[in-house]
Amino acid sequence: MSPETPKARPATALADSNAPRRTLLLTGASRGIGHATVIRFSSAGWRVITCSRHPFPEECPWGAGPEDHIQIDLGDRADTLRGIAEIRERLDGGQLHALVNNAAISPKAAGGRRLGSIDTEMDTWERVFHVNFFAPIMMARGLIEELKAAKGSVVNVTSIAGSRVHPFAGAAYATSKAALASLTREMASDFGRIGVRVNSIAPGEIDTAILSPGTEKIVEEDIPLRRLGTPDEVAKIIYVLCTETSSYVNGAEIHINGGQHV
Ligand SMILES: NC(=O)c1ccc[n+]([C@@H]2O[C@H](COP(=O)([O-])OP(=O)(O)OC[C@H]3O[C@@H](n4cnc5c(N)ncnc54)[C@H](OP(=O)(O)O)[C@@H]3O)[C@@H](O)[C@H]2O)c1
Repeated sequence: MSPETPKARPATALADSNAPRRTLLLTGASRGIGHATVIRFSSAGWRVITCSRHPFPEECPWGAGPEDHIQIDLGDRADTLRGIAEIRERLDGGQLHALVNNAAISPKAAGGRRLGSIDTEMDTWERVFHVNFFAPIMMARGLIEELKAAKGSVVNVTSIAGSRVHPFAGAAYATSKAALASLTREMASDFGRIGVRVNSIAPGEIDTAILSPGTEKIVEEDIPLRRLGTPDEVAKIIYVLCTETSSYVNGAEIHINGGQHV
């Protein structure tokens, strides 16, 4: 490195120390893209409230985690409503600057086989739609006052499977993501009027536990960049959509897939 080359600054240095601390509510934070999103926002000085079905893992290095973690089963309507009430209490009439609806399920048949539109049980359709589609709108509506007070931003995590038949993602998952993309458009119109931006991101093949064996073939044949994406490459775009850089972006769906959709 030459003497003139500036040293890389840690993300915390980017946060304005005089600005009030911003708050993110993130669903499905325990693994994969959600976990990378916690790291990205925490590093920039945000308070991050997380929720998922499991308790906060003791081995997690984020000191502020356990008291800002809420256990919710987003597949259950009553529990989702209970969780929203608990989140509102923790925000205590305050502001919510960002809501990221990231939690999702993608059930498979025995042996990891894809569940198509003919063989998906109705119970499975209903549960998938509750976690992947109804929970995001319940969260946004339940926290609308806090989002409005902050002129906040909502990011819905959709999928490339929402716009094309995918070899591994099931029919219930794919249609729930297509519905979530449409919901993003509706929300952008309704929430936009109260100063809350709503966008979605549609990841392709990101290196997480949700991937199926055989993804290597998609990488070789369908992804121009010839590699998987990393969770942080998704978290970076979520961060942009929740901050000033994207202040006039509303109702967009951003593809994060190395060109898989072209
Ligand atoms: N990875 C990819 O390649 C890819 C591609 C396209 C789209 N996506 C989308 O990106 C998002 C994150 O994917 P990921 O790969 O990071 O997923 P993941 O590793 O499977 O994590 C899913 C998260 O959702 C939580 N969750 C699942 N069911 C829940 C429930 N009923 N209630 C509350 N939380 C629940 C899980 O936590 P608990 O188990 O503790 O509940 C976990 O934190 C999802 O919306 C997914 O559809 C991912």
